[in-house]
Amino acid sequence: MRLDGFVEPGSEEVALLESLDAGRLPRHIAVIMDGNGRWAGQRMLPRVMGHRAGIDSVREIVEDTRRLGIGALTLYAFSTENWKRPKAEVRTLMRLLKEFIRKEMRRVHENNIRFQAIGRVRELDESVQGELRRFEELTAGNTGMVLNVALNYSGRAELTDACNRLIAERARAGDASEVDEDAIAGALYTAGLPDPDLLIRTSGEVRISNFLLWQIAYAEIYITPTFWPDFRRRHLLEALVEYQRRDRRYGGI
Ligand code: FPP
Repeated sequence: MRLDGFVEPGSEEVALLESLDAGRLPRHIAVIMDGNGRWAGQRMLPRVMGHRAGIDSVREIVEDTRRLGIGALTLYAFSTENWKRPKAEVRTLMRLLKEFIRKEMRRVHENNIRFQAIGRVRELDESVQGELRRFEELTAGNTGMVLNVALNYSGRAELTDACNRLIAERARAGDASEVDEDAIAGALYTAGLPDPDLLIRTSGEVRISNFLLWQIAYAEIYITPTFWPDFRRRHLLEALVEYQRRDRRYGGI
């Protein structure tokens, strides 16, 4: 495919972009952004510097995904297990998130991207929730791409929340019929979005880590040794080229 001004002429990204078939891009990409701490460690920097550098990758990958015309991007920013980290690191992550929102909200909005926080957001600090709400409200009418950021997220908690939502709704309606897959999908945080076609995990770890357990049933999984702060346009294009090489059969032949 070709995209004016997207890649530097003469760079290795040109060939990657040209080898992509615009008609077969994933509709939704999910990313487990991993390796910030190790990136920092390799440079003898404190871990939080790795998270700070990771923000630059977030900015670039969000814009590139949008430019490529991919409809949804879901980033795993903070899991329910991440509360176990030292308090100072958790505080820094929350501060970086607020900083990102304040700095990037306008640009994300101008790019016609709708932002959504997914996870047990109500358990986050009130000040973080306020920023998230502002961001969601500003971008609510945008139609170019959905950007989900998973915060205080766990796939099992999401499924549990979906079950409880269905139970409550059906109790109110006096409906005792069985639920089906569409009802469950419609009660998830990602309701209305296509399932991710591609799941990227950086830093070489070969785990799902409780991420989008229902939605990734048929996702192609791409694991790269690159640490998240180093993951930029070229790496995204490489992941897409590899994705298009895969033969997706969904259990058929
Ligand atoms: C994993 O690296 C990364 C995280 C737990 C946080 C990701 C957060 C950001 C990039 C910043 C905030 C996000 C947004 C969307 C603005 P790690 O710390 O587990 O790395 P390690 O495995 O090398 O220790």
